[in-house]
Amino acid sequence: MIKLNDLYFKPFISEAEIDTAVQRMVDEIANDFKDDVPVFIGILNGSFMFVSDFVKKYPKPCEVTFIKLASYEGIKSSEDIQRLIGLTQDLTGRKVIILEDIIDSGNTLEEVHRIFENENVGELRIATLFYKPEAYKKDFKLHYVGLEIPNKFIVGYGLDYNGLGRDLPEIYQLKTTQHMTNLVLFGPPGAGKGTQAEFLKDKYNLVHISTGDVFRYNIKNETALGMLAKSFMDKGELVPDQVTIDMLSAEVEKNSDAKGFIFDGFPRTNAQAEALDKLMDSKDSQINAMIALEVDDEVLVGRLLERGKTSGRKDDADESIIRNRITEYYKKTAILKDYYSAQDKYFGVDGVGSISEITKRLNAVIDKL
Ligand code: IMP
Ligand code: MG
Repeated sequence: MIKLNDLYFKPFISEAEIDTAVQRMVDEIANDFKDDVPVFIGILNGSFMFVSDFVKKYPKPCEVTFIKLASYEGIKSSEDIQRLIGLTQDLTGRKVIILEDIIDSGNTLEEVHRIFENENVGELRIATLFYKPEAYKKDFKLHYVGLEIPNKFIVGYGLDYNGLGRDLPEIYQLKTTQHMTNLVLFGPPGAGKGTQAEFLKDKYNLVHISTGDVFRYNIKNETALGMLAKSFMDKGELVPDQVTIDMLSAEVEKNSDAKGFIFDGFPRTNAQAEALDKLMDSKDSQINAMIALEVDDEVLVGRLLERGKTSGRKDDADESIIRNRITEYYKKTAILKDYYSAQDKYFGVDGVGSISEITKRLNAVIDKL
């Protein structure tokens, strides 16, 4: 991922893929023009890198020149009126091929056609390395297209965002979700996860997604996913991961302007962790860290027995049940600890101390992400 000015971009098209596309265009055009000596005209600034690579690959003699779009000066207009400058050569009867880096709305192309109407060229063809069919609003023929791309803003290989990015040898795509902090929060029963999640949520403006709560909400409100989950539960079967993921996805979608999420109670297995990665990827984001509160077993048992005196929770009252829950927790999280450690995303945080001390330790980890 890279940052240009205020925005984040992710890798989209590699140098090798660009190279293949350019070579394909060269082959097609060289094949069509046989022994004619064409004039290649690049539209500056964006096309400089494409034109350079293109003509280096072109197997036969050719001429190369550039034109540039410039805004009219001294004309007041709400419209962005532009004209082409730099066309000084006599092109009468010549085979002209426009080399464009990208065709988006087609406005530039319209201008190109307007200019060339009076040039008496023998033939005018349009070649563009990138083309956004969903954005194109004109009906000028595009004779050669390198790669069709979705209607999302790209940079690199000559293309810029506010002046930056032209120098990159590969193409990056604008991230639709800008930078988020997504945490997977773990802690054995009694570690104070709920308490700490509340603080993190407020400090970092995160949305706390507790899988248990999401389940209960969907079932209570009889959503389609809730009913589906319930149908498995009623049969005594495990709810398939995909159903849970779909519920979480809906939660993420509902909070699309969030600065990030705290996942609590999910994932529990490798398969779920992979599914969560995919979900985050589809939102143009990622899990940044698994944070696990670490508390010695004896301290946990003490805390839970203490809580059991007032909470009325049966599972907090019996020491052997408590120990079982703790053992169960470590069995399950060990797998995930490996999963996230392998990506350098596991952070164990000492969960013994006062609430504010623990909060400070958590903040220190998150601030460094
Ligand atoms: P048009 O909308 O087809 O006229 O495209 C006009 C110009 O907008 C292109 O020559 C580029 O300079 C710029 N442009 C369009 N889409 C992108 C993009 O995704 N990244 C960077 N520049 C773009
Ligand atoms: Mg351009």
